[in-house]
Amino acid sequence: MKPTVLVTGGAGYIGSHTCKALAAAGYLPVVYDNLINGHRSAVKWGPLECGDIRNEGRVQEVVERYSPVAILHFAALAYVGESVKMPLPYYENNVGGTLCLLEVCRANQIGTFIFSSSCATYGIPSNLPILESTPQNPINPYGRSKLYAEQALRDAGNAHGIAWSALRYFNAAGADPDCEIGEDHDPETHLIPLALDAAAGTGGPLTIMGDDYDTPDGTCVRDYVHVSDLATAHVLAFEALIAGMPSEAFNLGNERGYSVREVVSQVEQTTGHEVPVVIGPRRTGDPPSLICSSARAKRTLGWTARMPDLSDMVATAWRWRLSAR
Ligand code: UFG
Repeated sequence: MKPTVLVTGGAGYIGSHTCKALAAAGYLPVVYDNLINGHRSAVKWGPLECGDIRNEGRVQEVVERYSPVAILHFAALAYVGESVKMPLPYYENNVGGTLCLLEVCRANQIGTFIFSSSCATYGIPSNLPILESTPQNPINPYGRSKLYAEQALRDAGNAHGIAWSALRYFNAAGADPDCEIGEDHDPETHLIPLALDAAAGTGGPLTIMGDDYDTPDGTCVRDYVHVSDLATAHVLAFEALIAGMPSEAFNLGNERGYSVREVVSQVEQTTGHEVPVVIGPRRTGDPPSLICSSARAKRTLGWTARMPDLSDMVATAWRWRLSAR
């Protein structure tokens, strides 16, 4: 029988791609999702159990039913701007929900936990590239909620013998190359899908949120990483933890920054359409540049990105967009 893993938020963007990778590696992903932001149609590689991560009784019921060997925890609220305006649900879901899952792990001796963390935990880094040892000083409630959850995970891991990895994603992008799943947020706030909408003429012009940053072309620089490469990292971390790897955090990115304007040019090149843009004010909570070192993930997990080029991310996202509409 295939080992079962519980995937919270498995109906969401990164969670669903990870379910596909888990299934390909021989595991049965059981998705636990409240479907507030996730999509039933993205659950294709195992059963879906609807429920909220803050509902401990319901999580316990699902754990008793499937006896998972690990929890991969993606479920979270993840809009930086919204977190500034409405911080309490972010702490309640992202911190409180994680505590609830850790309690279920402790009570049921589930010894492996993989947590979706974020480069947003670093805030505005003092040095680039960002290492895992770079001080974490988040500048918005979303980033703080992820940092507090990481800290709770570390403490619970030490106290209750839970082996964990915190995977700090940089900017997830792209879609499944087979077009089975893709990025589908409502509302969409992320750069690449909005630029594709603008290129397709369905979304109005793209607003470049600030062109007066201290960066080469004045727009923000981000380290984009293909969602399928993030998915692979989860399988590697899971298998390494099972094999006795010590608990720690890993940055996941491509160690290369692209500005908003460079992303817009790539979208124009891939789609063959002009992206109409307007310049708007800066968005609160946006650091100017985020570029990571993934040396630890490469060294310890043996992770290498199969689609490190922005062109692959934009092309797969575009193909998904065309196939999904
Ligand atoms: N941007 C625009 N116009 C837009 C949307 C975005 O100029 O309409 C810019 C942003 O200012 C930013 C860059 O494009 O500089 C990328 O923005 P995204 O919204 O696509 O992604 P973020 O950099 O905000 O991603 C962050 C963190 C992630 C976190 C995510 C949560 O880097 O770790 O927010 O949604 F998970």
